[in-house]
Amino acid sequence: MRFTRQASAALVALLTLPACSQSGDAAAGPAHPDTSGKGTPVAASGADAGAPGIGDSDFPLDGNGGYDVGHYGVTIGYTPSTKHLDGVTTIDATATQRLSRFNLDLSGLEVSEATVDGAKAAFSREGDELTVTPQTPLADGARFTVKITYAGQPKPVKDPSNLGTYGFIPTTDGAFVASEPSGSKTWFPNNDHPADKATFDFQITVPQGLTALANGELTGKKAAPGGRTTFTWRETHPMATYLATATLGKFDLRQGRTAGGIPNIAAVDPAYRNALGKLYRVSGEVTDYWSKLFGPYPFSSTGGVVDNYSAGYALENQTKPMYGGFDPDTSIIAHELAHQWFGDSVSIKRWKDLWLNEGFATYAEWLWSEHTGGATADTMFRRQYAVKNDPVWKYPPGRAKPDDLFNQSVYRRGAMTLQAVRRAVGDQTFFTLLRTWVADHKYGNATTPEFIALAEKLSGKQLDSLFDAWLFQPSRPES
Ligand code: ARG
Ligand code: ZN
Repeated sequence: MRFTRQASAALVALLTLPACSQSGDAAAGPAHPDTSGKGTPVAASGADAGAPGIGDSDFPLDGNGGYDVGHYGVTIGYTPSTKHLDGVTTIDATATQRLSRFNLDLSGLEVSEATVDGAKAAFSREGDELTVTPQTPLADGARFTVKITYAGQPKPVKDPSNLGTYGFIPTTDGAFVASEPSGSKTWFPNNDHPADKATFDFQITVPQGLTALANGELTGKKAAPGGRTTFTWRETHPMATYLATATLGKFDLRQGRTAGGIPNIAAVDPAYRNALGKLYRVSGEVTDYWSKLFGPYPFSSTGGVVDNYSAGYALENQTKPMYGGFDPDTSIIAHELAHQWFGDSVSIKRWKDLWLNEGFATYAEWLWSEHTGGATADTMFRRQYAVKNDPVWKYPPGRAKPDDLFNQSVYRRGAMTLQAVRRAVGDQTFFTLLRTWVADHKYGNATTPEFIALAEKLSGKQLDSLFDAWLFQPSRPES
C-alpha cells in the first residue's frame, strides 16, 4: 500500500491500527477436502422448501425465499497469479417460514462444506442455486447461521450485448469487483437480490504489497501466513449484495475528511496516479453538497476507487464507488455519489424500478451542473425533450426491461421525469420530496408507487397522469 505525501493524521491512525481482534475464520487457507455434504439425499418433497427466487418475476431465480439475511461474514483469500480464491462465508439469517431446506445463490466455484448452526448440512448445486438442507428443519422465525466453505477460480458474468462483464473480474494485479445487477454470486454465496440487505464484515487476504478495498471502514490490517496480508473491513449499514466489493491490487491511497467532516478514502491504481488528487477532492465536495441537498450522508465514509480494468461503466459500491479504467469527470462522480442516497441507502425492491436509482443519479448530474453555474436542470431537460426521435420515447423508464435494464431511458428519461415533477410541484416541494424520500426509506427498500404517493401527498396534487405519461407510456409525453 502506498500513500501520497498529503496523507492525513487519520490515515496514520488507520495504518497503525493494532492487529485486528475480530473473530471469525483465519484467512481462508486451503479448503478442506471434506465432501461429506455431497450425496446426502435431500428431501424428496418440496414441503417447507425455501423458494429458489426471492419473488422478482423478471428474475425468477435471483435471490431466494424463506429467510432474511441480517449479516454476512465474507472471508476470502485470493492469489492473482493463479486466480485462485479460497472462501468461507458465514451468513446470519432469520427464517421467515418453516424451512426443510433453503437456497443460496453461487455461480461456479466448488463448495466443500456447509454447516447450519455448526452442524454439517447436506448441500447440492444446480445452475447458480446452492441448496442447503439442515439436519433438522428450521422453525419459522428461527435465527440461524449458515457457513459455506468453497474455493476455485471465480468467473465473472459476461454479457457482451448488454451488461458487459461484472462480478469478480481478475485484473493484471488483482481483481476489480463490481457486481450489479447479480454478480456477487460469482465470489461468495448469498441472497443475491437488492430486496434483502444486510450488514457485512470482510476479511480479505492477499499477497504482500497488494491492498484490498471493501465497503465501509478498514478495521484491521495484519500479516498473514505465507507472506500475505489480511485486510478487514466492516460495513455497519445494510447493503444490497450487488454493492459489495473486495477490489484488490496495487493502489495509491489518500485518506482524510471532507470539509464537512465525513471520512474520505480515495484509491487509484498506479496507472491513474494523476487522478488521485482530483478524485479525492471532488468526491469530498460532491458528498458535502449532496449532504446539504438530500439530507445527511447515510454512511460512515465516502470516496472512490479507480482501477486499471476497462469495465465500460462505473458502479456506486456502497461507500466506495468504482470507476472501471478511466479518470472520472466531475459529472460521473456526482452521479455515483448521488447513488449513495438513491440506490444504496434507499434501495429498490425489484429491478423494474431501477429508474429510482439511475433516473435520480442522472438528475443529480444536472443538479451538480446547476449548482456549479453550468446548464440548469431545466435547460438539460429542454435540450433532451427537444429531440423528437430520441429512442427513449419508445422505452418507458418506469418499467426497466429485464433484458435491457440499463437502457438510456432509465437514466435520461428517468431524470426528465423528475424535472417534470419539479415543474409541476415547484422547487420547495420538490426538494422536500427528495429529502423526505431519502429519510422515509433510509437503509431500506422502496418502490415507484411509493414515490408517486409521496409526491402526491407532499404537493397535494393529483400526479397520476404526469407519472403515467413520463414513466409508463411508450411515447413522448405532451410536455
Ligand atoms: N449503476 C451503474 C451506474 O450508475 C451501472 C452499472 C451497470 N452494470 C453493468 N453490469 N454494466 O452507472
Ligand atoms: Zn447510476
